[in-house]
Amino acid sequence: MQKTEIGTDIEKASILLKDGELVSVPTETVYGLAANGFSESAVLKIYAVKNRPQFNPLILHVANVDQMRNLVIDIPPIIEKLIKAFSPGPITYLLPKNSTVPELVTAGSINVAIRIPDHPLTLKLLSDLNFPLAAPSANPSGYVSPVTAIHVQKNLNGLIPYILDGGECTVGLESTIVGINEGVLQIHRLGAITIEQIQMVSGKKVEMALSHASPSAPGQLKSHYATSKPFYLGNINELSVRFSDQKIGIISFQKSYTELNPAEEIVLSYSGNLDDAASMLFKALRKMDESEIDIIIAERVPAIGIGLAINDRLERAAYKGNEGV
Ligand code: TXA
Ligand code: MG
Repeated sequence: MQKTEIGTDIEKASILLKDGELVSVPTETVYGLAANGFSESAVLKIYAVKNRPQFNPLILHVANVDQMRNLVIDIPPIIEKLIKAFSPGPITYLLPKNSTVPELVTAGSINVAIRIPDHPLTLKLLSDLNFPLAAPSANPSGYVSPVTAIHVQKNLNGLIPYILDGGECTVGLESTIVGINEGVLQIHRLGAITIEQIQMVSGKKVEMALSHASPSAPGQLKSHYATSKPFYLGNINELSVRFSDQKIGIISFQKSYTELNPAEEIVLSYSGNLDDAASMLFKALRKMDESEIDIIIAERVPAIGIGLAINDRLERAAYKGNEGV
């Protein structure tokens, strides 16, 4: 295939998707790798291009709640409330699928993950299609998710025909995933919509359903979001002593560590704003991977609100580097 084209032509994206091709689409969270969610042959291309195991199911993206209703047996009232409050937005709902949704999309589960992304280009595209878009994050399986069209092109050049360029993703972390089990709301992945927000709107206590090896959300495997370079998470002063013989890249939350003379340094938010830190994180991981350094060291951010989701991604990125340590 030719070099992957980047552009803003919704019509072109729509034609390719109707033809069963893959198109990378912007969302407010991260870029997706989209295909016709009703076409098994199109969905198979997603698994192949990402090198993703077929036991790891895909999120379906729709333009509105009516399109969502067409894919599920039922939307419980408590989820309806969440949809009203948070969608379009960075949240995905796990709901019992109906027969229109191929097994390949849900990896055999009775539940399908669905979300309404909050991005004008992709909402326009979705409202032009008579099928949902199956779309995982547009990175090779296990690597850091892309938040710009250029990130996608770097990873998937020549493997897909088109990237719809919607600028830089504003949220910068994947959506919160929420399901319901015997009437109890469960968080399957932390994201920008926080536990507190979900509890506030639902009026119910929310459970965590995070399990690192759970087949219910295989994307929760610990080694996700890994950089190519070794990545250590902890106390930056201590880590810099431990690796003083190496060229270090530092990712810190608010404070600069220039006194440690790092070869590269990224401060996620000088003002200590967690939303800004979230939108910087994946850019920072990729920048470090491209820098002339040997290892990356980073610290956790305050564990409140979206900070929990940031720490979750940092811990997963660090897993390989910290193995056995
Ligand atoms: O923000 C997002 O959610 C982005 C954008 C592109 O929408 N998408 C995304 O997709 O992060 P992906 O495939 O990288 O992560 C989806 C996660 C995976 O961990 C997958 O296992 C889980 O959702 N998932 C999808 N369908 C599921 C299902 N039916 N049951 C349980 N988990 C599911
Ligand atoms: Mg992903």
